[in-house]
Amino acid sequence: MGASLHPVWLLGRKRRIVDGMSDKSRLVVIVGSVREGRFGPVVASWVADQIRAHGGFDVDLVDLAGVDIPLTLPAASPKFAGDDYPRPEGMKDLTRKLSEADAFIIVTPEYNHSYPASLKALIDWHFTQWTAKPVAFVSYGGAAGGRHAVLHLENVLTELHAVTIRDGLTFPNYFTAWKDGTPLDAAAAGYAKTLLEQLSWWAQALRAARTAVPYPGGA
Ligand SMILES: Cc1cc2nc3c(=O)[nH]c(=O)nc-3n(C[C@H](O)[C@H](O)[C@H](O)COP(=O)(O)O)c2cc1C
Repeated sequence: MGASLHPVWLLGRKRRIVDGMSDKSRLVVIVGSVREGRFGPVVASWVADQIRAHGGFDVDLVDLAGVDIPLTLPAASPKFAGDDYPRPEGMKDLTRKLSEADAFIIVTPEYNHSYPASLKALIDWHFTQWTAKPVAFVSYGGAAGGRHAVLHLENVLTELHAVTIRDGLTFPNYFTAWKDGTPLDAAAAGYAKTLLEQLSWWAQALRAARTAVPYPGGA
């Protein structure tokens, strides 16, 4: 059995409402690994703790292990289909979370110098949900700490007009670098704080821009 997620996620539901809108940015954290015995939820739980300490976000979790994301896509691209895109019923909640998001953190392992197929499927079933929104990465793996996966994700998400954040959290050799759900590197929490501050800045800036002027996505 793999690790399970810390119930901290439920706290994200208790958001403050101001004039019908949250005064915080809505952050979706995506757990990319769906492998049996996966380490991903350990990393995601620690990330959730850092987000809670930061306090600037309302959080939704998307754990890809709990969602049915078929590899077979509809004939058309989701780019121009809008809300009519024929997604499976079991994907509706996930799509709503992506649509409502102001920002994303993708927690990804590295498989064969790239990211898992589960993440690619998630990305390809959507388009506008990513557009003009910031994405930060937390990666882990062997010597490269998942950086190959992140490089590929940056490339793909740029195609969807997402804005990838330069700074990221990278955990090389996670099997010796973590103990009891926490990275041994004492600087990690500080790096996370910096990353979250940058992500918050982008989330607010891009939400304001999207609200003021429709993004000229184009073809
Ligand atoms: C199919 C597969 C390919 C892998 N390829 C790499 C790799 O290219 N680089 C790397 O650092 N680790 C690689 N690993 C090791 C993973 O980083 C390690 O298994 C990690 O635990 C995966 O995250 P997860 O447990 O959350 O699935 C690979 C693991 C699997 C299962």
